[in-house]
Amino acid sequence: MADNTKPGLHPIETASRDEISALQLQRLKWSLSHSYQNVAQYRKKFDAIGIHPEDLKQLSDLAKFPLSDKKDLRDNYPFGMFAVPMTDVVRIHASSGTTGKPTVVGYTKKDIDMWADLMARSIYAAGGRREDIVLVSYGYGLFTGGLGAHYGSERLGAAVIPMGGGQTERQVQLIQDFKPTIIMVTPSYMLVIAEEMVRQGIDPKTCSLKLGIHGAEPWSLAMRSEIEAIFDCDAVDIYGLSEVMGPGVACECVETKDGLTIWEDHFYPEIIDPITGAPLPDGEMGELVFTSLSKEAMPVIRYRTRDLTRILPGTARSMRRIAKITGRSDDMLIIRGVNVFPSQIEEQILKHPELTPVYQLHVDKDGPLDKLDVYTEVRVELLAKLGRQGMENLGKQLQHNIKSLIGVTCDVHVVEEGKVERTLVGKAKRVVDKRPK
Ligand code: DLL
Repeated sequence: MADNTKPGLHPIETASRDEISALQLQRLKWSLSHSYQNVAQYRKKFDAIGIHPEDLKQLSDLAKFPLSDKKDLRDNYPFGMFAVPMTDVVRIHASSGTTGKPTVVGYTKKDIDMWADLMARSIYAAGGRREDIVLVSYGYGLFTGGLGAHYGSERLGAAVIPMGGGQTERQVQLIQDFKPTIIMVTPSYMLVIAEEMVRQGIDPKTCSLKLGIHGAEPWSLAMRSEIEAIFDCDAVDIYGLSEVMGPGVACECVETKDGLTIWEDHFYPEIIDPITGAPLPDGEMGELVFTSLSKEAMPVIRYRTRDLTRILPGTARSMRRIAKITGRSDDMLIIRGVNVFPSQIEEQILKHPELTPVYQLHVDKDGPLDKLDVYTEVRVELLAKLGRQGMENLGKQLQHNIKSLIGVTCDVHVVEEGKVERTLVGKAKRVVDKRPK
């Protein structure tokens, strides 16, 4: 390997594309044969279309292999997708899911080690160093956020405060007393913490936090600017999903903040057409699919994430990036035939400095037609100045922008700050869909 290393970075982060591809091919061969030999479900699916791991001669041959999704995991609940005996499994996580059984994932000692390494790499890319104190405010437990962030921070050598989600007053007290420099938390809960600080008479800009590492839910670029302005900090995007590992599958680099670098030495990304499943070239928008290259306990082959994005060339690192996730295909609302993602409405709301970044979308039926109601809040200090008329005008303006820029008709309700429901633990609930299923 050429000596183009940079201090603090793993050599693969600055390797040539050829070096990365060679490593991927070698690992992909291993991962396909490991899955075929040890997971009945993969063997059955490969055999059904007459494909064998040995048919993979080059990376592009992967497209010949079958896709997999949550249904494969659900049908083999709880441990049927594991490729190692239970004696080699050292950790189990699960995501609750909205319907039916949880999705269960397992890790060997080596998998946990790889995850800690990649989380440490992610935190470093985001700007974290061993001198930092990290407040982990992602939930601990079956959710991968808390423990993923915890192990990664420790691996980096930083000091970890394992706070977990919720108990907002306590979060603020710990920030004031322990003076963490980094917080790892969902972007929506970061805003709840800011509100609590203001309630206590603390200006968030004066607190010790210099960097927020946010993920687990979609958030717009406008939301990044909002968080950075409120806290006078860097706000960096981190991505992952339990089925593929947890947080740290991809992370933004603080020096570019231009999308998330995929840790391609461990995960092979593809973009497919979400309807036909056909692979799409880099740069085109579609559904993100991952194949794990080194995971032992629960390898995933061409796993459909449902997340919509594009693959972009590398910038701060040699590895390719994904653009900010627009949303999940199953979060896309279809309102009277118009496709709309909550993050698009978020961007329009945040163009109005009078409004807070907290919002919720309610969807219902009005006779045979879909009806969208946008609930947004006016900042408390502007209430008296704007009055009822001013709030109404603001609502009309936003309604007009949403119609002309996104193409969807809606009613906008501008309410007082604090009136829209906040999510204190877990992922923000941006949409309340009351339409009969
Ligand atoms: O949310 C893992 C995670 C924890 C990522 C903490 C980042 C930080 P799951 O609960 O399995 O795992 O949910 C995975 O969350 O498929 C996306 O739809 C969404 N998601 C995760 N990160 C982002 C992000 C964790 N940065 C699902 N932007 C994924 C947008 C995200 N969506």
